[in-house]
Amino acid sequence: MKKAFISGITGQDGAYLAQLLLSKGYEVTGGVRRSSLNSMFRLEALDLAQKVELVSFDLSDPYNVIEIISNGQYDEFYNLAAQSFVAASWDVPMQTADVDAIGVLRILEAIRKSSTHTKFYQASTSEMFGQIREPRQNEMTPFYPRSPYGVSKLFAHSMTVNYRESFQLHASSGILFNHESPLRGHEFVTKKITSELAKIALGLKDTLFIGNLEARRDWGYAEEYVEGMWSMLQASTPDDFVLATGVCTSVKAFVEYSAQSLGISIEWRGTGVDEVGYNKKNGKPVVVVDPKFYRPAEVDVLLGDASKAEAKLGWKPTINVEQLCHMMVTHDYDLAKKSI
Ligand code: NAP
Ligand code: GDD
Repeated sequence: MKKAFISGITGQDGAYLAQLLLSKGYEVTGGVRRSSLNSMFRLEALDLAQKVELVSFDLSDPYNVIEIISNGQYDEFYNLAAQSFVAASWDVPMQTADVDAIGVLRILEAIRKSSTHTKFYQASTSEMFGQIREPRQNEMTPFYPRSPYGVSKLFAHSMTVNYRESFQLHASSGILFNHESPLRGHEFVTKKITSELAKIALGLKDTLFIGNLEARRDWGYAEEYVEGMWSMLQASTPDDFVLATGVCTSVKAFVEYSAQSLGISIEWRGTGVDEVGYNKKNGKPVVVVDPKFYRPAEVDVLLGDASKAEAKLGWKPTINVEQLCHMMVTHDYDLAKKSI
């Protein structure tokens, strides 16, 4: 039985990856940081909380990281832990850098010194492309991060490459474009849209306040992306891989698809900060732009090219953005209805 460690197991990807590894017969240990709130809801939603071993793990504590890795002697270590919300990274840039950048170096050093057989996966991100240098981004596209989050992740990505080349570690980096699911955190725009529109459809709320409607992202389904993470660690040689759908969609279109799934048609009037989306049926304003959600530096558009992952790993996503909107908004509608 293979032993795997997942840092960030309480997050969206951590829960789906734990489910996948258990289904493949792995013994799964997950790192959890101390919280006054219940962070186990995703593992509970997938009925996994009793099926994995949970241990205290915090990337900001170097001794904790070393102890977990040297005692565990894991076959595979998936580093999914991060301060992952881009907007918050301007509020807490140092904490973001400590966890998302230096935290990864702590793991790499611990593997190098005490567990060199451990295969390592780093959760890199399309945010490293930031102000894009090419219309479609692949593993060779130059990086230009636009946030403390993106800069920190680029440090971690570069260190992963460097430790692979310097010490022959099996260390791979997945440059993942946005991926979403019903388990997505509420701070991210997709979940915010689907959960709030579901409440509007049920009459529990009047308006969705949103930021930049013109931002465009390449949105896929998280459960498919964790398959790609696992495949990277099964490859005979470690490498970097982009995972993406190859389709990019605006925030505004994500709102429209989600609203359509709820039977709401939106008519847009105005532009920029004055843009408002009205419910065609009753004329009520359902979507209002609030500049407080704008970012100091925006990533306007991301569009990935995952042809290397398809050719070398056989990875190919199947869920498109309309299906994703429908899946998320239906889930949120059912949940909100139960609460009435
Ligand atoms: P998420 O839902 O925000 O989960 C992040 C996880 O990291 C949570 O389990 C969180 O624990 C944990 N964590 C945060 N700070 C930590 C610390 N100091 N020490 C240990 N654990 C800590 O993120 P996700 O969407 O699953 O993403 C997983 C990884 O992929 C992240 O590294 C993210 O940056 C990266 N990524 C995500 C996407 C995407 O679209 N989802 C795309 C590219 C890359 P708590 O539950 O206690 O908060
Ligand atoms: N969160 C949020 N809230 N974003 C908004 C809003 C809003 O009200 N209105 C517009 N947006 C825009 C943001 O400005 C951004 O351009 C886009 O919607 C997506 O924002 P998020 O959903 O917060 O995700 P992200 O793209 O910044 O980051 C996610 O994807 C990265 C991969 O590209 C996170 O999962 C990162 O951890 C991940 O690395």
